[in-house]
Amino acid sequence: MKIGIVTGGGDCPGLNAVIRAVAKTAAKRGWETLGIIGGYQGLLEPQNVRVLDYKALDGLLVRGGTILGTANRGPFSAKTGHGETRQLPKELMDATKQGMEQLGIKALVSVGGDGSLTIAQQMHEAGIPIVGVPKTIDNDLAATTVTFGFDSAVACATDALDRLHTTAESHNRVMVLEVMGRYAGWIALYAGMAGGADVILIPEIPFRYESICAAIQERESKGKTFTLVVAAEGAKPAGGDFVTSGTQHLNREARLGGIGTVVAREIEQRTGKETRAMVLGHLQRGGSPTYMDRVLCTLFGAKAVELITEGRFGRMVAHNGKFVDSVTLAEAIGHLRTVPTDEGFVRAARALGISLGD
Ligand code: F6P
Repeated sequence: MKIGIVTGGGDCPGLNAVIRAVAKTAAKRGWETLGIIGGYQGLLEPQNVRVLDYKALDGLLVRGGTILGTANRGPFSAKTGHGETRQLPKELMDATKQGMEQLGIKALVSVGGDGSLTIAQQMHEAGIPIVGVPKTIDNDLAATTVTFGFDSAVACATDALDRLHTTAESHNRVMVLEVMGRYAGWIALYAGMAGGADVILIPEIPFRYESICAAIQERESKGKTFTLVVAAEGAKPAGGDFVTSGTQHLNREARLGGIGTVVAREIEQRTGKETRAMVLGHLQRGGSPTYMDRVLCTLFGAKAVELITEGRFGRMVAHNGKFVDSVTLAEAIGHLRTVPTDEGFVRAARALGISLGD
């Protein structure tokens, strides 16, 4: 028995730990695992794969990125915008099946976010034996209570806030940290809480500059001469839109970035307080996974192989809050897990006096 594993979409800490867990669990059953290089494209002519034997797995538990490489554009792009998907052509599916047959791959593990899992679902419908493993630092897939990569991203953002805290305090400045989070503000919220932010801006709650400035002025009135603001890249002013950066590529979602700088400029103009912005960007996606993510990746990888063993294709590994289970890919895709705006974290944040900018 030979299985394949492919990583798709943006990278994130823990991809290699999943690869390791899948290949080790498969090896225990006497199966061989082939890693598909550069996303699904590696299955097409000229095929690009590598054997994931024990030697190839050395050091993978802690290594960032993906040793298989990844792709979030090209013929296998299924997401073209928020909620917009495209159907991959039949010829591409046929070529994929043919590639798998040539390589002797009997089942595929697809590790990715909503885009890669949408492709996986289409492959399942086309008769390809496939299971999914949910990945995204944004933690925004509704079908699983947690995705791997999120904890590592939050750890990185929290560390950044801790560092900004001391420099903000020294210079009596407002510091605005922009973190990732396209449609969901989980990273901003968790890191903001862990790092003691005073203002947290998330995509789910449109903000008003008057509110942000009022929060800063209230702090000033209490003798707090610096303020920490965290903004998710997808945060937007009431009635306004996302701030985008870079050029828009065909069949890809708009590249976000820049809201932190916009917010910082407005704060400085309106309050007269010296304000600096910092975009954390891809630092959040790089480096070693945290211990939480290493464990989650290991559980997810083992579960993916279990699904293949049971012939339960078209499913995605998912955490149900208590243990690792699975759901159908059809149920999983296209459903975002955004931050509830009137319960849990948001309520606690408000109770503490953290401004959500509204
Ligand atoms: O989906 C994960 C994510 O990190 C988003 O938060 C962000 O908008 C996007 O990926 C950035 O992607 P890229 O690496 O293509 O710039």
